Amino acid sequence: MEVFTSQISILEMSYILASVLFVLGLKKLSHPATARNGNLWAAGGMVLAIVFTILFHKKDGAHIGNIPWILAALLIGTVIGWMAAKKVKMTAMPQMVSLFNGMGGACAALISLMEFPHIPEALIVRHGMLNGETFTILMGLMIGSVSFSGSMIAFGKLDDKIGDVKTKLMRYFNLAFLVLLVAMVVYIMLMQGKPDMIWIYLFTALALIYGITFVLPIGGADMPVVISLLNSFTGVAAAFGGFLYNNQAMLTGGILVGSSGTILTILMCKAMNRSLLNVIIGAFGGSAVGAADDGDKTVKEISLSDAAVLLSYSQKVLIVPGYGLAVAQAQHLCHELDDLLTSKGVEVKYGIHPVAGRMPGHMNVLLAEADVPYEKLTEMEDANNEMNNTDVVIVVGANDVVNPAAEDDPASPIYGMPVIKAWEAKNVIVMKRSMAKGYAAIENNLFYHVKNRMLFGDAKSSMQKLIAEIKNL
Ligand code: TAP
Repeated sequence: MEVFTSQISILEMSYILASVLFVLGLKKLSHPATARNGNLWAAGGMVLAIVFTILFHKKDGAHIGNIPWILAALLIGTVIGWMAAKKVKMTAMPQMVSLFNGMGGACAALISLMEFPHIPEALIVRHGMLNGETFTILMGLMIGSVSFSGSMIAFGKLDDKIGDVKTKLMRYFNLAFLVLLVAMVVYIMLMQGKPDMIWIYLFTALALIYGITFVLPIGGADMPVVISLLNSFTGVAAAFGGFLYNNQAMLTGGILVGSSGTILTILMCKAMNRSLLNVIIGAFGGSAVGAADDGDKTVKEISLSDAAVLLSYSQKVLIVPGYGLAVAQAQHLCHELDDLLTSKGVEVKYGIHPVAGRMPGHMNVLLAEADVPYEKLTEMEDANNEMNNTDVVIVVGANDVVNPAAEDDPASPIYGMPVIKAWEAKNVIVMKRSMAKGYAAIENNLFYHVKNRMLFGDAKSSMQKLIAEIKNL
């Protein structure tokens, strides 16, 4: 039986405390007003777990060695992470999240690679390779590697460095890779003795390739699902590390990331009307096809004064923010417009699409930053139910999330994805700089719709001018 020394109990207690801080931090992350604190609480939990592990962890009676190396790695990682987070633009946040997520996956995979040679001989003599430790190591290695290479490809795609690779063949390749990976796990576990490391390197290489090939074909509007799936993979891989080391803080942290990431993935799948299996074999999303330009479509523009009159004499206005709001940093002006119209007796609400912007909750975060009351935000479904009674929808820098092709063009890569049906309102004003396409790189027929008029220009300056115009009425 393990000796329960006072040092072990301090360490275990610190892990429990760290886990509690993770849970409380996660809870606080669920509301924009408390999210910042939540982040700090969870980070505090992580610092506590690291410091106490360094101070109190013992193996075979000896404290952790290589302290200078550990401290140097901590210092370098902290400085790079701190600087990257300080420097990153809000619009480039998803890329950074992907990059950091990939690092987590790589860590989990490296832990497995390091630990495989140390599976105790006594265990192998008794059970062959069919034991919990081998399984934990192989799972951590597979999931961590997929998460690492997949996240790197997602990073490249979000940063516009890598395009979609869309052939039907990919789906069969991916299915074959997945089957091969599972078969290798079974094969290794059925071996009598410890296999040569070459098997493990081969397994790692296959997992890395699968991570690449499964993310490569996913394109257009479907990236958010993949990002949250990769995020949950990293959590699960870290949880396997926690099992391996019998480390409760790592286990809880991994499980929390894994489970919350899985819930988010399921919600995203629902929001995009996709199935999870299709995500895993990389069989959905698409490149720039769909809504062919039939040439005879006309675009109508609206003047600032007409827009000001239309809005001021409306009863119900819905603002639909999108990625362009983040680029223009027009959230504060959006709130000012909202206040101005509200003071004139207009009912103003915001219609939030679950994948508007470039990261989950992007619009909520932006609007919270501008102190827009949370009650004013309506979810897509509720916004759509109210659309017939809405006098004006102002689309601020959104495109894909208001694209009618999702409803009426079966050839479109976003067909089937629920969207905000702006065209069902009495009037639509779209604020954007040009006729350029959105993230999914497809035409948007809303811009040519009879009810729609375009207010071209950077969302911030258009919003400024519009506010001035309304004040002058
Ligand atoms: P998009 O479809 O990407 O469209 C944004 C529009 O904003 C562009 O068409 C652009 O048109 C306009 N814009 C850019 N800068 C602007 C500025 N300064 N002022 C005014 N307009 C500006 O955005 P969306 O409707 O929010 O849809 C999000 C897309 O990203 C979806 O396809 C979604 O699947 C994908 N995605 C989402 C996530 C998450 S989790 N939310 C993650 C990855 C990808 P102009 O250039 O003409 O101005």
